[in-house]
Amino acid sequence: METLFYERLKEYFKDDYDLVLEKLKSESKKSFFINGIKANSDVILKMIDFNYQKTINPKVYYYDDEVSIGKTKVYELGLIYPQELSASLPALIADTSDVHLAIDLASAPGGKTINILNRLSENALLIANEIDYKRAQVLVSNLERSGFSNVIITNKKTSDFHHLDGSVDLVILDAPCSGEGMIKKYPEIIKEYSLANINQCAKRQSEILEDAYRLLKKGGQLIYSTCTFAYEEDEKQVQDFLKRHRDMKLKKFKIADKEYEGMAKFTFLDDMEGQFMAYMIKEEEGEARQVKYKKTVSNKLVEDFIKDNLNLDNYYLYEQNGHYYLSLQALIDLKDHVLRYAIYLGDIIKNRFEPSHHLYRAIALKDSYKNVYHLSEEEYDAYVKGLELDADVKNGYYALFYKDMQFAYGKASNGKIKNKYPKGLRKTY
Ligand SMILES: C[S@@+](CC[C@H](N)C(=O)[O-])C[C@H]1O[C@@H](n2cnc3c(N)ncnc32)[C@H](O)[C@@H]1O
Repeated sequence: METLFYERLKEYFKDDYDLVLEKLKSESKKSFFINGIKANSDVILKMIDFNYQKTINPKVYYYDDEVSIGKTKVYELGLIYPQELSASLPALIADTSDVHLAIDLASAPGGKTINILNRLSENALLIANEIDYKRAQVLVSNLERSGFSNVIITNKKTSDFHHLDGSVDLVILDAPCSGEGMIKKYPEIIKEYSLANINQCAKRQSEILEDAYRLLKKGGQLIYSTCTFAYEEDEKQVQDFLKRHRDMKLKKFKIADKEYEGMAKFTFLDDMEGQFMAYMIKEEEGEARQVKYKKTVSNKLVEDFIKDNLNLDNYYLYEQNGHYYLSLQALIDLKDHVLRYAIYLGDIIKNRFEPSHHLYRAIALKDSYKNVYHLSEEEYDAYVKGLELDADVKNGYYALFYKDMQFAYGKASNGKIKNKYPKGLRKTY
């Protein structure tokens, strides 16, 4: 199958084929995305103690290969997200000024979701969906670390959202694909390469595109992307979709001051991996359904916890599968296979309310915690390893801050802050 791969690469890159083969020998440049909802870029960049360089995306920076980014404090604090440059570009296309409801249909591990959430207003709501349960768990953890709260995370098929048909302002479909653009990272793709797989991917993409189409309201935007060069999954996929739906139109967009006529492709020749993107608008009214909102609940134990620990006048309290969720806006009812409704507040365990880590990561609540404790660098290093702290504070739950960034909570009792940092996140090195 290797022969077919190189034949198609030659067909695609034509005169640049030899150059592409050269580029394939070098490693991809590593980069990270600045999660600007936590602090402005200058503040975050000042906290970075390794070398970095600008890219064409003002929020993405290259960094040196030797850095283990997942072990840095800026990563732990959710201030950066490792992401290859080309993968960050589709989210730049959308006009987010009037988006109230967005959906990312294939969201895990969450790169594009984090990109687009950085551009949406905090009053907008985004549904981050991932069909694969294990990958959806990674998505939950990435969005929690990044501090978002205007998100509902679901683990559904893309055809399970028909009750939102005609209601969505922005649909992002970063489709499962044959992944030709990822071969530097996953060279095994070449060995498994086949036309049958490309055709199967194309068929699946066209089915998901149909779901995307139905969800869009009039004027709604669709961003379709893949990380492959295959024409069947990219240009042809989009052209076929436009033929099936005459009310969908390609729209011009700009990336780094260059204008594109509705579609763009970044490749090894741009010193990136591979990313195809198309930007489309729905011009006609769709078949809109009445969106139903989820019923709020009331529970004295939970409400007493909120009263004692948060300065919040208005909030919505929800319950799903025994877990409690808090939102600052009314949420759509998405029925089953919902992993998170906005902020995971916590659970009632043995007749006591136990808060969740997410409650203390959500940026929207940064100024709402009643008890706050600021850690020194030494205390922070100890806490993320799972140690308890000595602190002369009154008993109760505390939002823990490091360098003015909230990152966790602890329970103060008799001069100690007991460690509540999730075991899976603790530093063992
Ligand atoms: C390219 S990845 C998404 C990457 C993600 N958008 C990001 O930026 O981090 C495509 C995703 O589609 C999911 N997927 C696979 N089959 C699918 C299907 N039939 N419907 C919807 N999603 C599917 C995969 O599990 C995978 O997480």
